Amino acid sequence: MAENLTIAGETKEEKYKVLLPQIKALIAGENNTIANLANVSAALKETFNWLWIGFYLVTDENELVLGPFQGPIACTRIRKGKGVCGSAWEKEEALVIADVEKFPGHIACSSHSKSEIVVPLIENGKVKGVLDADSAEYNHFNETDKKYLEELCTELSAFIQY
Ligand code: SME
Repeated sequence: MAENLTIAGETKEEKYKVLLPQIKALIAGENNTIANLANVSAALKETFNWLWIGFYLVTDENELVLGPFQGPIACTRIRKGKGVCGSAWEKEEALVIADVEKFPGHIACSSHSKSEIVVPLIENGKVKGVLDADSAEYNHFNETDKKYLEELCTELSAFIQY
């Protein structure tokens, strides 16, 4: 396993291109869900320094529960269809929110969060959880984030046992 994360690139796209192979290598030798999601959260936080980055996992009770993350403390449980996370789960698609205050039902875990992206982790047609990233800037996330975070989540979903 790599001891250090290499952070390089000027643009978002360049940063993702340097980061994703490292994440793939990082999770390849480990099958523990918590360990992998914890390291992925740390790698994304170190690379992009978002306000909050982490995971929610679908429970047997059919709700999302807080998983590994980096950033301020967050709400622990989210029901299907609620907030950005529960909506991305219900719709089974990534949601890019330029201004969280304009998203009906947005769950404000931190008053500093201004924009957000949520990408579902889907394996064999079943949502196993979501990746959630929050920024302190409006309109921070775009199609580049969506593209690379979807690629990451496709890779990660095979590793999630919860
Ligand atoms: N804002 C999210 C809740 C999770 S926190 O941002 C960490 C939502 O509306 O689902």
